[in-house]
Amino acid sequence: MKENLVILGAQWGDEGKGKVVDLLSADFDAVVRYQGGSNAGHTVVVGGEKFVLHLLPTGILHEHTLGVVAQGMVVDLELLVREIEELESRGLKVWDRIFISDRAHLVMPYHKVLDALFEKKGKIGTTLRGIGPSYMFKYGRKGIRLCDLEDPDRTYRLMKENLEFVQDLCEKVYCENHSLDLEEMFDKTRENYGKIRERVTDTTRWLLQFEGKVLFEGAQGTMLDIDMGTYPYVTSSNASALGLSNGTGLPPAYFSRANFWAVSKAYTTRVGEGPFPTELLEERGERLRERGREYGATTGRPRRCGWLDLVALKHAVEVNGLDGLVLTKLDVLDDFEEVKACIAYEVDGRFIEHFPAGLDTLQRVKPVYRSFKGWLRDTRSAKSFSELPQEALEYLQFIESYLKVRIVMLSTGPEREEYFWLHEPAWKVRS
Ligand code: GDP
Ligand code: IMO
Ligand code: MG
Repeated sequence: MKENLVILGAQWGDEGKGKVVDLLSADFDAVVRYQGGSNAGHTVVVGGEKFVLHLLPTGILHEHTLGVVAQGMVVDLELLVREIEELESRGLKVWDRIFISDRAHLVMPYHKVLDALFEKKGKIGTTLRGIGPSYMFKYGRKGIRLCDLEDPDRTYRLMKENLEFVQDLCEKVYCENHSLDLEEMFDKTRENYGKIRERVTDTTRWLLQFEGKVLFEGAQGTMLDIDMGTYPYVTSSNASALGLSNGTGLPPAYFSRANFWAVSKAYTTRVGEGPFPTELLEERGERLRERGREYGATTGRPRRCGWLDLVALKHAVEVNGLDGLVLTKLDVLDDFEEVKACIAYEVDGRFIEHFPAGLDTLQRVKPVYRSFKGWLRDTRSAKSFSELPQEALEYLQFIESYLKVRIVMLSTGPEREEYFWLHEPAWKVRS
């Protein structure tokens, strides 16, 4: 039996990964975040109480799970400390259950300054959390890692060099000033590091030695993957399955025993700029936004909404080698008289069924839709196949047959208990 599980985003993020990871975590001993950073906003609703996690793995809400912040993440120490303290203040004991990689890179205040500056020329619509610049520094070999903080002189020197570089960039390229103070930044970083220091370790070795069942929690989504997504309108990490090995430091063979599932909404959303072939720029798009409460969990921005894009989803199935799909938010479609799914793109009079790489092509594609009769009945909190209207079943069956992958689970509302299995795996969810 495959013991570990990978949960990824199949679309442009915000698919409901947090809700799904949280409920599945009941069956796992450790949950690992391994790419991205505080650009993620993973929402969990338990008994009417809402939690939004940005840096910690969602599974940490269960008292028995251990949480790993692995090396592929870029960590804003200030936010990490705040997130842990907030959970503690809400009665959750988390300090002793968290392991943070000593190889993870820091997001520094100057990364956020650059994020805002870069957005002024060539807007991506980022979360302004300093994610792109932090990864730029990492790959440009100017990053500061958590292990560096053990050596204050080295940390100070790196910060000074980086701040001078950013200063030059601001002044000479963008003709702007910033108000960052080296001493203040250094002291604050040391102070925050002091709070988490005991939890910092080599998480790769830790995971290799760990004998329990592990769930890997992807952030963002496949279409935001730096290599496989709608480049350059993407995030700066591998948000698809490609990011697992470099994000955790674990050998690819480690994942041969894992199940790969991805989460998709029953329609599509995206935040920020970039191509979105099935976007609805009219009343139905607004209806999806209002019914689905489609406002960003990190930035509060309204999410762009549209029909399900099966061409993009097929790309996610192939890139990630998916064993299963978890479908969320079918209930949001409950009052639509007609529901549509895109089954091909038309570009320059030709039909294509694969997701093109070129931005220019993507901006010109016209979606080809298949229409479904709406069910006009409440599906929220349904607990089995038999409770779903026939029209909804037809929609689900078409998705499965188009994608050639099973919908393993249906999420039927934001609350932890609102779901049911369509194809239950061999392992059961602990109560
Ligand atoms: P994530 O980033 O993938 O974890 O997703 P977000 O938390 O950013 O956004 C998903 C939103 O949908 C959250 O507000 C969830 O509470 C909500 N949600 C998740 N599953 C369902 C569902 O099946 N139905 C409804 N109506 N809401 C859901
Ligand atoms: P979760 O994990 C949705 C988007 C931003 C922007 C682009 C680049 O909650 O699904 P960045 O700040 O990463 O440089 O922004 O990526 N983006 C997300 N969209 N959900 C997310 O995370 C996202 N994280 C980044 O809106 O378009
Ligand atoms: Mg989110």
